[in-house]
Amino acid sequence: MSEKPPRYASWTAGKLPLPELAEMKRRGDKIVMVTAYDAPSGRLADAAGVDLILVGDSSGMVVQGRESTVPVTLDEIVFMTQWVTRGAKRPLVVADMPFGSYEESDEQAVRNAVRLVKEGGADAVKLERGGTSVSRARAIVGAGIPVMGHVGLTPQTATVLGGFKAQGRTAERAAQLVADALALQDAGCFAIVLEAVPPAVARAATDALVVPTIGIGAGRDTDGQVLVWHDMLGFYEGRAPRFVKRYADLGEVIADALARYAQDVRTGAFPEKQHTYAMPEEELEAFRASLR
Ligand code: KIV
Repeated sequence: MSEKPPRYASWTAGKLPLPELAEMKRRGDKIVMVTAYDAPSGRLADAAGVDLILVGDSSGMVVQGRESTVPVTLDEIVFMTQWVTRGAKRPLVVADMPFGSYEESDEQAVRNAVRLVKEGGADAVKLERGGTSVSRARAIVGAGIPVMGHVGLTPQTATVLGGFKAQGRTAERAAQLVADALALQDAGCFAIVLEAVPPAVARAATDALVVPTIGIGAGRDTDGQVLVWHDMLGFYEGRAPRFVKRYADLGEVIADALARYAQDVRTGAFPEKQHTYAMPEEELEAFRASLR
């Protein structure tokens, strides 16, 4: 296991202070982010020294088995954030604002971001796109909640983008993407996710921004990286995007374990004596006598 990152004295014992992320960018220390959706994954990410955990609406696809992130509800993200924050102590936990939870107005965005922090226990929230999301981000930051932006491939509006496709591949679209990232920074975002964009565009955005960029399918020059838990651990049946690196094949490990369990149950090899509970001999005698 890699070297443990430092623990910090902050308002909640050991929590990574948010301003430390900007310091990491300044020092050139890469920021590590991963998604998580429950307490065990939050605990494991914390133990591995991950800096940021995203309770992503990717859960709609990798956990719920849907084809898109659009149907994910605010209540679902609130619940998952409660679970993750029970497991993760040092990492900053960022809760995704699902589609429909911030599009209507700044007031709606603030109200729902407050729920994620107050009920879910999130340290920050994330929303997708530039455009109207800039005003939403400004309003949420104004309410005292840290906001992470997300530009490039924004799965909540994938239909408008023509599907789950790389973005910023023309000079005009690349310039718009950097402009959106700058507008989100001006609105007060503490970091910006860059998803599925050419490395040169990610580099330009990273150079232009003071706040850290977190890349996913954006090359190595961003200030940090994020991957989806199920994709990187080989735990997802769908086709993972080309930018995913698989660090384990848990799907295979689990399938093999389940097959061996099924075989043991069917052959009577499980359970064995060590999996059972003993009873005092005299109690057993008395019990048997009571059955006669
Ligand atoms: O929902 C999610 O997991 C995300 C990441 C892909 C950045 O938004």
